[in-house]
Amino acid sequence: MSVDNMYADIILDYYRNPRNYGTITDAEIKASDSNPLCGDEIEINIKLNGNSVKDVKFSGKGCAISQAAAGMLTEMVAGKNLEEAAKLTKKDILDVLSIPISHVRIKCALLSLKVLKLGIYSHIGGKLEDELKNL
Ligand code: FES
Repeated sequence: MSVDNMYADIILDYYRNPRNYGTITDAEIKASDSNPLCGDEIEINIKLNGNSVKDVKFSGKGCAISQAAAGMLTEMVAGKNLEEAAKLTKKDILDVLSIPISHVRIKCALLSLKVLKLGIYSHIGGKLEDELKNL
């Protein structure tokens, strides 16, 4: 088996047995977005303990790459503080996927990262707005 085939198998496994799949009812952070090209969706829920990620889940539908990347992302985010999680990059996702991702598929691979950043920044922005209101 070639190395690319091995990583393709890992991606298929994450697709068929999604890690951290589901929702968190009392999550402080909930964000979702879709891929405009195909309509596929990812939602990410994060339960915080102070500033750290206590629990993280994703849900949605989409191709193997988008769903596997979302599960891998939740594993990377677990236990991190929000600043560290917000610093995750396109390269971090492509590194864990470990197979060449075509130009067409790059949006699939990065959808969950986009949703994560939307969620974190709107949470931080919301907190900032609350603090400004109390000035
Ligand atoms: Fe829709 Fe990949 S084809 S996210």
